[in-house]
Amino acid sequence: MSQIQWYPGHMAKSFRELDKNLRQVEIVMILLDARIPMSSMNPEILRRLHNKPVLILFNKQDLADRKILSLWEDYYRQSGYYTLSIDATSPQSLRSIYSLVKDVILKEQVERNLRRGRQLAPFKTMILGIPNVGKSTLINNLTAKGGAKVENRPGVTRQSQWYRLSEEFELLDTPGVLWPKFEKTIGYNLAITGAIKDDILPLDDVVIYALKYLSKHYQAALVERYKLTSTDDVFEILNQIGTNFGALTRGGEIDYDRVYAIVLKDIRDKRLGGLCFEKP
Ligand code: G4P
Repeated sequence: MSQIQWYPGHMAKSFRELDKNLRQVEIVMILLDARIPMSSMNPEILRRLHNKPVLILFNKQDLADRKILSLWEDYYRQSGYYTLSIDATSPQSLRSIYSLVKDVILKEQVERNLRRGRQLAPFKTMILGIPNVGKSTLINNLTAKGGAKVENRPGVTRQSQWYRLSEEFELLDTPGVLWPKFEKTIGYNLAITGAIKDDILPLDDVVIYALKYLSKHYQAALVERYKLTSTDDVFEILNQIGTNFGALTRGGEIDYDRVYAIVLKDIRDKRLGGLCFEKP
């Protein structure tokens, strides 16, 4: 847990910084992991946005269950947020973000400026997201084409930095991480998707949680991948995976650590198909 820095004093400081950063931007993008759209969201952020337009980006859509993901899009849209499912590594996704922001979210502002014959000042935005959600990938790709640091404009903290993305956009990159409250299921979901390191929670608990979820919601994929004859009991599933994949000790016993590693890698590498570990 120490690596997560979730304690009230730290969070209070991060939120104070967030409040200051928010004052400097016109639109806020929250990057979520499409496989765990609730566990990767800190709901406190939403309570602090004060009528700023918010674009919720479900990243890693390529690894997620499309059907469930569209329920999440509806869910957040109905709550008044803009949503977009993306793959931060794809140029198409980057174009979609630009056009949604410019042609929809800030449309009125753009038109008003044009009517008044005003030159458009770049729109200012910031991106929030927990580690491993793909924030650096997205920012790197957004800034790849000519994106440059804006010099001489200090951010709120020494580590925060403004980037010019294009003629039209500037991005405030901030180092602070606002973890969601670390409740049990949230912790498991963060571990399954690799948002927190594998040694933070007991791996057996994480994998047992994942297998129980999969056997309830993705039974066919689980059976197919591991050639299971039954999914009634999670320990029996572990034994079958160990046997069928030769994850055995020298003495011929099931090597559970290897089984855990196989399951986690398979989930993260999409060997069980697109998955979501929570529904709205
Ligand atoms: P962060 O700054 O939020 O911490 O995340 P970062 O961009 O470093 O991305 C974490 C990992 O997720 C990277 O893989 C990156 O390539 C991958 N990633 C980012 N966006 C997407 C996406 O839309 N789809 C998929 N499939 N992967 C994405 P990595 O460097 O190989 O790290 P890891 O996978 O070993 O953790």
